Amino acid sequence: MCGIVAYIGPREAYPVIMKGLKRLEYRGYDSAGVALLEKDLRVYKKQGRVAALEESIIGQDLHAHTGIGHTRWATHGEPSDRNAHPHLSASGRLAMIHNGIIENYTQLKKELTKKGYSFKSDTDTEVLLNFIEDIQENNNCSLEESLRIALKRVTGAYVIVLLDRNHPDTIIAARKGSPLVIGIGKGEHFLASDASPIIEYTKEVVYVNDYELAIIKCDELILKNLGNEKITPFVQKLDLELTAIEKGGYEHFMLKEIFEQPETIFDCLRGRLDVTKGTITMAGVQNNIDKLTNAKRIIIVACGTSWHAGLIAEYIIEEICRIPVEVEYASEFRYRNPVINHGDVIFAISQSGETADTIVAIEKAKEQGAFIFGIVNVVGSSIARISHAGAYTHAGPEIGVASTKAFTAQMVVLIMIALKIAYEKQTLTEDRYIQLLTELQAIPEKVKELLRTSEHIRNLALKYKNVKDALYLGRGNNFPVALEGALKLKEISYIHAEGYPAAEMKHGPIALVDENLPVIFSAPKSFYHEKLVSNIQEIKARKGKVLAVISEGDEVIEKMADDIMTVPLADELISPLLSVIPLQLFACYLGMAKGYDVDKPRNLAKSVTVE
Ligand code: AGP
Ligand code: GLU
Repeated sequence: MCGIVAYIGPREAYPVIMKGLKRLEYRGYDSAGVALLEKDLRVYKKQGRVAALEESIIGQDLHAHTGIGHTRWATHGEPSDRNAHPHLSASGRLAMIHNGIIENYTQLKKELTKKGYSFKSDTDTEVLLNFIEDIQENNNCSLEESLRIALKRVTGAYVIVLLDRNHPDTIIAARKGSPLVIGIGKGEHFLASDASPIIEYTKEVVYVNDYELAIIKCDELILKNLGNEKITPFVQKLDLELTAIEKGGYEHFMLKEIFEQPETIFDCLRGRLDVTKGTITMAGVQNNIDKLTNAKRIIIVACGTSWHAGLIAEYIIEEICRIPVEVEYASEFRYRNPVINHGDVIFAISQSGETADTIVAIEKAKEQGAFIFGIVNVVGSSIARISHAGAYTHAGPEIGVASTKAFTAQMVVLIMIALKIAYEKQTLTEDRYIQLLTELQAIPEKVKELLRTSEHIRNLALKYKNVKDALYLGRGNNFPVALEGALKLKEISYIHAEGYPAAEMKHGPIALVDENLPVIFSAPKSFYHEKLVSNIQEIKARKGKVLAVISEGDEVIEKMADDIMTVPLADELISPLLSVIPLQLFACYLGMAKGYDVDKPRNLAKSVTVE
């Protein structure tokens, strides 16, 4: 998720834009750039921080009353100066910044290349920009008209903001699927990804809706739909404070990121899962499908929450691909003398792509000839670059130290990879394959539905906020969910918590159970239901408090448990995508109830780049 700022009016545009980009830095980014339009069109852009860009252009001509600025969160083309925005069209007449993903950019790029276009960057953005210019030049129409025609061909998500060198008095913007706010000033207008760069100049804003275009001059704002019909702008008064805007109105980034999961899971599926065609499009997998389907063994290396995602993948891959999987703590794998055979495939899972233990584990496996497949969130990060192939999780920047939306995105990518391998190996019937694709597609809506129970979960967190210990139990692919729930509680509320396979209790841990110990079951509908009922009875018989994450309609466990958290019904194979979310919320609300900074828990770093 990047940042967009634009200005047109009597002020100097550059300082307004740069200050605005700094207001948006909290959103996470890898590059920054600005285009300034007065008599001429100038573009300054650079990989790295906004401050580094400012530093690099001291002394340059920064005078202009019209300008656009961008902080990039790379999705297509790794972070670099040339992939940074704004991009210039082939003729140099247009400059554009873009937030989002153009899913069909490959097709558009093929068409433009056939027409003789070449590209200075690897981004989807530059392709769209030249597509727009090509339409304008071939139809001899206005930029606004060519944009409307182009956007009818485009699939994906975008906010785009355009400058035309021949029209310094105008900014054109369009939006679908990414946020755009327009600030209404006196003889001036501001555009931004959220209101934080705008609020100090004006509290009058218009939130642009999907499929709307904005044509903006100093003293005129015209809104239109793609059908060229004018829309009356709905002007609202901002009543949020700056910090609240940055967190999207949530108290903490962690809470915001938990609630973002319907969108981030959708973004992870976007352009990949197509149930009607029965396809999953993932170039990194497709281009290496032989290595993956013929793998003798898949070794998963990761740390922390990413390691939990690996454990869940083990259950799914072995179940539907029939390939042996081993899940290794990267920190252990890197030091022992592991046996790596030719034909072994390494899955390296990492949100940051910078975890030192995982990097070294990869290098060690590479030395012994293993094929490395990276599942990473940060585009162009170290692990993305040292892997032979990979897939991005597209969860957007994760600001909270405790990983939440990245975890569910990792699971979605791993499930899609497993489905592609199983389909290729035919270790899954066609019906079962389509059934799982359909189930996966329904997950964003089911997550949205379960998030509506957040108030109930907040009340449970208040009820249990003074416990000293907690036990998390699960079976099958919900055992790693128990581990993840325990980790969330530990790292956010500093309460000691352990995750265990529920059946393992009788081998010792059940000695811990008494009336002071809450035992939290991750128990969505599964083959293990009856066994879990017995495990719950064992706990109740020893006066343990039982909280259970259950599927809607599970009246059996509902009657037995002291408290329940309910999730919609889903196929057992992908139920962890839902069952983990109440545990994320429980930990977050409990940490908030104890007054802790859940975004920056003590002793923890977002990316452990040291061993
Ligand atoms: C999870 O909430 C923690 N922040 C931590 O365990 C994290 O998952 C681990 O450090 C791995 O980080 P990575 O995914 O960036 O490699
Ligand atoms: N998809 C575009 C790119 O990778 C825009 C990414 C963003 O939203 O910053 O450059």
